[in-house]
Amino acid sequence: MRIDHDALIVGAGGAGLWAALELARAGVDAAVLTKLYPTRSHTGAAQGGVCAALGNHEEDHWEWHMFDTVKGGDYLVDQDAAEVLAREAIETVIELEHMGLPFNRTPEGKIDQRRFGGHTRNFGEGPVKRACFAADRTGHMILQTLYQQCVKAGVTFYDEYHVVDLLFEGGDGGDGGRAAGVVAYRIADGEIHTFRSKAVLLATGGFGRMFRITSNAHSLTGDGVALCYRHGIPAQDMEFYQFHPTGIVGIGILLSEAARGEGGYLLNDQGERFMERYAPRLMELAPRDMVSRAIYLEVRAGRGIGGKDYVYLDLRHLGRKVIEEKLPDITDFARVYQGVEPVTEPVPVQPTAHYAMGGIPTDVLTRVVRDEHKTVVPGLYAAGECASVSVHGANRLGTNSLVDLLVFGRRAGRQMALEVKGVEMPDLAADVDEPVRAELAAIAGRASGERPAEIRRALADVMMDKVGVFRDATLLSEAQATVRGLRERYARVAVEDRGRTFNTDLLEARELGYLLDCAEATVAAALARTESRGAHYREDYPERDDVKFLAHSLAFRGEGGPTLRYKPVTITRFEPKPRTY
Ligand code: FUM
Repeated sequence: MRIDHDALIVGAGGAGLWAALELARAGVDAAVLTKLYPTRSHTGAAQGGVCAALGNHEEDHWEWHMFDTVKGGDYLVDQDAAEVLAREAIETVIELEHMGLPFNRTPEGKIDQRRFGGHTRNFGEGPVKRACFAADRTGHMILQTLYQQCVKAGVTFYDEYHVVDLLFEGGDGGDGGRAAGVVAYRIADGEIHTFRSKAVLLATGGFGRMFRITSNAHSLTGDGVALCYRHGIPAQDMEFYQFHPTGIVGIGILLSEAARGEGGYLLNDQGERFMERYAPRLMELAPRDMVSRAIYLEVRAGRGIGGKDYVYLDLRHLGRKVIEEKLPDITDFARVYQGVEPVTEPVPVQPTAHYAMGGIPTDVLTRVVRDEHKTVVPGLYAAGECASVSVHGANRLGTNSLVDLLVFGRRAGRQMALEVKGVEMPDLAADVDEPVRAELAAIAGRASGERPAEIRRALADVMMDKVGVFRDATLLSEAQATVRGLRERYARVAVEDRGRTFNTDLLEARELGYLLDCAEATVAAALARTESRGAHYREDYPERDDVKFLAHSLAFRGEGGPTLRYKPVTITRFEPKPRTY
């Protein structure tokens, strides 16, 4: 079946929903496709807050927020983008408030704010309360609020439509073609639908499922990044993957940084607040890359709890009222998944793969760019975690992800609304969906072969063990060989479910291909970056090297593996300096 809409949005998290809302407000015929139901999008899992320099408790300025973002990202942040983020954070949060989002309140009725890692007053002097929050369910509230607004505005939703390809007119994405729509697989009955449009926004989220221990939902398989990569558009800064310091041991579910923002401590087996050794000023509120490394170093030194691979998050001194009123969800998670009572017991935690700083390269208008000269792919947009604009550089600050998807989702919708008014609906051949039909049919029709779950497990293990918080040339080379081998096995992948109704077996096999693409680009970029910066820590190259590597990596897909090129970082206000906290 062929369906036309002026604008298509792939993904119904915060970025996709806000873009849809802007398009609907501008009177554009826009539709959202999601492989889930909108309210199950991963934005709903974001816990601790969304930051904006409102200054509701103490003096704050968007310039301070911008500075923290740039420094937090170890100076790989594009500063034009960070300025947009910090300035527009304020109006987007106020707009959300006006939409009805139930933020926590100060006694005077203002939006309450709390501390988060790396957010400081006066260019680094000390922690500032900048994270606006709704208990520890901020993302959930954002998702519900935006979805309600979209329904009210009459946005069309295609729920449980899994986008399996991008369409271009006049060439591929990487060589001058214009985005012309998408191909989607309707999960309910296995029908393939071709959607034609004048503009497409990718808001498909991250790819944390390539790691064994992750806070990411099962659906976060890098679909948008991989589809672009397959169409000649590079994947940017893939070597920068964030590990959140406080995941539930073994399963990775997040225990929000808000716990430390409210005053929680990290303790080792000797009862020491070990962050004193690594970040004497900000302690537990240092950026995540530093705290995660510190936890690993404590564990390596034998100071993990009972000599094991985790430390304690201690909230007991906060008291029952703060714990239950401000951190209710994570308190429940600790009770349910760990059998631990945070009011009276310390909670075991370890780093968990959490957030991709890299992704689809875009400009500040969210237009996808396809090379180091920032050549725009007409009609194609990306926002949210799948995009790399780049406001996070080498390491994202906590709460900057929600504000990123709000600010740039809103910008995407506004820019798309302008663009679609000036272009015609593209011409698409009747058999334009043939390549992806053939790929899916090949997997579905293979009588025997490799099981996707086994390849996926092997991928998650190698990425976790060799491309995690600490890396070196030996580990990365081994990982590269393993990922190559897994790719060869993937060429023979077969599924057991031959049906058409809810064939998640087939779709998971497809998603595994996306994860392999993302892993291949991640490993290649990590191996080539012989320096340490932000979340990319090379034990064989422990220093930052601004002479060689103050640049974004661009990984282009190729037959024998990715080719890497580099793009300069945009620096406007803050020259790179050593990064201490
Ligand atoms: O810890 C958290 O609540 C996560 C926030 C974030 O990743 O921004």
